[in-house]
Amino acid sequence: MTPGARITRLIEKRGPITFARFMREALYGPGGYYQSGTPVGRDFHTAPRVSPLFGKLMAEAVRRVGGDVTTLVEFGAGSGHLAAPMLSALPERLRYFGIEPGASARSELRARLRPFGRRAEVCVKFPDRTFRGTGIVIANELFDALPCHRVVGTSAGLAELYVGRSRDGRFVGVRGKPSTSKLERQLRAEGIRLRRGQKAEVCLEAAGVYRAVERAFRRCVLIAVDYGYEAEELYSPLRHGGTIRGYFRHRESDDLLAGPGEQDMTYHVDLTHLRLTASRYGFKTQWNISQGKFLLGLGALEMMRGVTMEERLSLKTLLMPGGMGDRFTVLVQVKGMSLSPSWCPSLEELAEKGEG
Ligand SMILES: C[S@@+](CC[C@H](N)C(=O)[O-])C[C@H]1O[C@@H](n2cnc3c(N)ncnc32)[C@H](O)[C@@H]1O
Repeated sequence: MTPGARITRLIEKRGPITFARFMREALYGPGGYYQSGTPVGRDFHTAPRVSPLFGKLMAEAVRRVGGDVTTLVEFGAGSGHLAAPMLSALPERLRYFGIEPGASARSELRARLRPFGRRAEVCVKFPDRTFRGTGIVIANELFDALPCHRVVGTSAGLAELYVGRSRDGRFVGVRGKPSTSKLERQLRAEGIRLRRGQKAEVCLEAAGVYRAVERAFRRCVLIAVDYGYEAEELYSPLRHGGTIRGYFRHRESDDLLAGPGEQDMTYHVDLTHLRLTASRYGFKTQWNISQGKFLLGLGALEMMRGVTMEERLSLKTLLMPGGMGDRFTVLVQVKGMSLSPSWCPSLEELAEKGEG
């Protein structure tokens, strides 16, 4: 059964479904967008696909943590374009777990990690266990792919945008009361009140990621790279229609509800929510920095010296202000430990050392 047929059945049985449920079925259900192909690279690019040096610089981030790092976890590992260059630059004693719910990306990931043997394990979901020593968790563009609810401000308070079916069989947006009070609570905790008619996305799934990591490690560093804004900016009237978009073959698509399973759906991440949620689970956000500055702090300039012209240009794409360099934010969050400021020196510090 196609995702569209499954969603139709769900709606016929119970009436309109939340957008989060629609998105989960369309992206991750059987035959869904992330189950039936390897869309990263085909429909959009991510940093590990743009440059293998992204993985090498992540390896440097891991090396600089030092101490008793035993385990490396990558949430949303995709097809292994970050993992492979990263693992080849790290000591063999480190165990890697790549978590990937997408079936075809997972089989590519497995194939790409074969040369690393038992050092690398591929899983559908985060292993429910505790690990010894310090863990490092990496999530590149994970949060922008988690199913979200859609809400709208009304004169009577918050309403939710559900997905229903029109008489002629199309999926259509339907307004209703919020499916859960968590939606309003999450926005209120950030001091957000939507204006009348203002639409927005609210993701309730980030807590699940932090909860799993918090249970697994007594000490850990979580590095999340994503595009997004602080709540005040994300939910400002400037973004009256919200930020969720459909993508197909590098182009924005107009209709989010058309052809479920055929297009990606992604939205700007609420960085304030990630920081607040992290702190509820005992994490402190030590760096909140643009991708460009983060990679420079890890030694991107020195790395450029010893690589091919093609690699140099690919790394430049990740660093460029006005492009990926500042469109992406890196949150470095620590639990049970803290990193020395020299782990990722600022541009001023690099310039003082003559490396800028
Ligand atoms: C935008 S893609 C990024 C893939 C890869 N990190 C990269 O940068 O190329 C998002 C990935 O997150 C995965 N994903 C979605 N929900 C997840 C979850 N709950 N746990 C782990 N991975 C998840 C998707 O299957 C998809 O591969």
